[in-house]
Order: sequence, then C-alpha cells, then structure tokens
Amino acid sequence: MKIALKTCLIRTWRASDLDSLVENANSPQVWLNLRDQFPHPYTKRAGRTFLRHMQARRPETVFAIDVGGRAVGAIGFVLQKDVDRVSAEVGYWLGEQYWGRGIASEALGAITRHAIETHGLTRVFAVPFAYNKASCRVLEKNGYALEGCLRRSALKNGQIVDQFQYAFIADPSESSRRPPR
Ligand SMILES: CC(C)(COP(=O)(O)OP(=O)(O)OC[C@H]1O[C@@H](n2cnc3c(N)ncnc32)[C@H](O)[C@@H]1OP(=O)(O)O)[C@@H](O)C(=O)NCCC(=O)NCCS
Repeated sequence: MKIALKTCLIRTWRASDLDSLVENANSPQVWLNLRDQFPHPYTKRAGRTFLRHMQARRPETVFAIDVGGRAVGAIGFVLQKDVDRVSAEVGYWLGEQYWGRGIASEALGAITRHAIETHGLTRVFAVPFAYNKASCRVLEKNGYALEGCLRRSALKNGQIVDQFQYAFIADPSESSRRPPR
C-alpha cells in the first residue's frame, strides 16, 4: 500500500525500517500519549517484533508514515468485531522532531478515507487522553466529532485520566460501496 501526500507518504512497512522506527518511537513524550502496549523504552528487539508482526498481518491496517524515505511514525486502525464490525479505531504517532508540520493531520485524513473505502466502514473512532491537545486538534481538523468524555477511564503513567471519544461518520454512499464483513 502506498498513499502519497504533500507532507509524507503512507506505506507498507519494510524490514529496513528498523533503525528509523526505533529512533523515532523511543520517546517518553510519544509513549505518554499512547496505550501501555506501546513499549518504552522502545528497543531494537521491540522494533523487530513489531515489523515481524506487520509482515504477517492481513488485512494490512497499520502503515509507516514515511518522510524523506524514512519511517518516522505509524498510522493505522483496528477493525472491530461482531456487531461493531462496521467500525474501526484509528491510532497514530510521529517522532518528536516531526511534530508541528501538519503531517498527522494530512495522514489521518488519508487513512480515514482508506479505512472506510477498503473495509466498508460506517464509523472510524479515536480515544485520545483528554490531555492530548495536539491529537484532539488533529481529529477535529479532520471532521471527527467529540462524542463524549470517558471520565476517569484510564490509568496512564501512574495517574487516573479522562479520555475523549471522537468519531468520524462515513457518508452513507461511501460506506455502502463495499459491504462490511
Ligand atoms: C498527536 C501527533 C500525532 C500530532 O502530530 P503532528 O504532525 O504534530 O500534528 P499536526 O502538525 O498535523 O497538527 C497538530 C495540531 O495541534 C495543535 N497543537 C499542538 N500542540 C497543542 C497544544 N498543546 N494545545 C493545543 N493545540 C496544539 C497544532 O497547533 C496543530 O493545529 P493547527 O494546525 O490548527 O495549528 C504527535 O504530537 C504525536 O505523535 N504525539 C504522540 C503520540 C500521540 O499523541 N498519538 C495520538 C494518540 S490518540
């Protein structure tokens, strides 16, 4: 998969992404805004496990954010199951030195469209920590609506925190082009 954008390229992971993946993922500021399943410190071993997992994973739902030929972040979605199978949860992160260039905003728009078109979804949602202002802004800029605050719903870095729920609802004509699984 390859989607060329102005600020970056969204593409399939490669084994050669290991060094840039680890370099960009190994950041407390990135980890603080993600679920604990994202390793910290982010070791080479963690990077290898991730890339191996990416190669085996079908359908392909998690992609590299490539800037200048280097994988500097990730963006993807988790298809939901059972009656929720018309929905997916989106997630993303970017190496700190690439923040503030509009990369995540552009990448989120593209991956939202891709998820809806490829999987016949009606809804793509995200659950950022309430303190994650940058991510909330990225979601809002892409037409995600704030649906609610999940009060005291998570334990992150030793603190009980609120999470926001945002969702993008597909145009019904778009999601009906391909029937859901
Ligand atoms: C969230 C993240 C992906 C944003 O990436 P990015 O490429 O820097 O985002 P963009 O440049 O596209 O947009 C950021 C927006 O947030 C705004 N912003 C940044 N910090 C902010 C803050 N503290 N308060 C309010 N707005 C803020 C920026 O001004 C920009 O909005 P604008 O275009 O209206 O000026 C990046 O910060 C990151 O990887 N964070 C760690 C992981 C993470 O939070 N992932 C998301 C989990 S839900």
